[in-house]
Amino acid sequence: MPPMHDPRPGLPGQACAARVLPAGLFAILGLLAACGAEEPTAKRPVVGFSQIGAESAWRVAETASIVAEAEARGMELMLVDAQGRMEKQLEALRGFVAQRVDAVILAPQKEQGFEPVLKELKEAGIPVVLVDRGVQADPSLYATLIASDFVAEGRMAALWLAAATTGDVRIVELEGTTGSAPAIDRKQGFHAALAAHPRLRVVRSQPAQFALAEGKKQMEAILRSESEPFQAVYAHNDDMALGAIEALKAAGRAPGTDVLVVSIDATRPAFEAMVRGELSAAVECTPLLGPQALDAVQSLLRGERVEQRVVVADRLFEASQAAAELPNRRY
Ligand code: AHR
Repeated sequence: MPPMHDPRPGLPGQACAARVLPAGLFAILGLLAACGAEEPTAKRPVVGFSQIGAESAWRVAETASIVAEAEARGMELMLVDAQGRMEKQLEALRGFVAQRVDAVILAPQKEQGFEPVLKELKEAGIPVVLVDRGVQADPSLYATLIASDFVAEGRMAALWLAAATTGDVRIVELEGTTGSAPAIDRKQGFHAALAAHPRLRVVRSQPAQFALAEGKKQMEAILRSESEPFQAVYAHNDDMALGAIEALKAAGRAPGTDVLVVSIDATRPAFEAMVRGELSAAVECTPLLGPQALDAVQSLLRGERVEQRVVVADRLFEASQAAAELPNRRY
């Protein structure tokens, strides 16, 4: 149970709901009068949010959801964007300890490497809510993990591909950031499900950082070196799938027809690609985690217990459902 301490002496932060702090500037945060010179009127909880970056449309939507929810609840959010660099996330978290924030929301880039800083947060009495990705660390070092079941997402993609095809299917896999929970688990779920369908075979796996430009670049390289045609692409997220679709089209292949493309996230651009018939299916993984993350923070600040693991439910959408569902998409 974290102490309900006076957040950070000397911080003039009561007038702004959310401050976005480039990771490099975090160390001098205490010197900045970012929100004007007025004296604070009431004490509001201060929540540090360490975000990985903005590599995908999904992550941008997640950041917006958490910022909006903190604002709606009158909480002050210190958002530090690590610009895709794990060391900047660690630096931001140590900054939160120094600033004595009331709670931390952490979207960890990779599974490994967070345990020492999580210990420091625990020693400082700062509860940690993990969102969207898990870590390999003693579970007593964080209060809860609110995230999808990435293994199940990979499995759903594989089973859809098995049901949608006949004959031998050679698959190219575009992987997310190496060492991240979604890259590890989406691969594991997909490959495990394919074990029961030997006619479907992953012939190439290539990391592409969960990013559109990288997905395109990797697919261009794969197409250049292709010795035997492949019939499907499995991308660990939509952005990489959309990049791959651009590369396939430029190479004269017809995504959605010659090559089935299945991905994970189910963002609005993915739905638009499904409506165009270029993306064949997308497994939903919602980034709208703000309400659940801030609920957990508030429970913890009241001294209540929270579930150690909250699994966010996912489902798969096929291209045939896309036009009807598109108007409902919120990210
Ligand atoms: O951790 C969730 C994954 O990270 C999303 O699927 C992906 O788009 C993001 O960058």
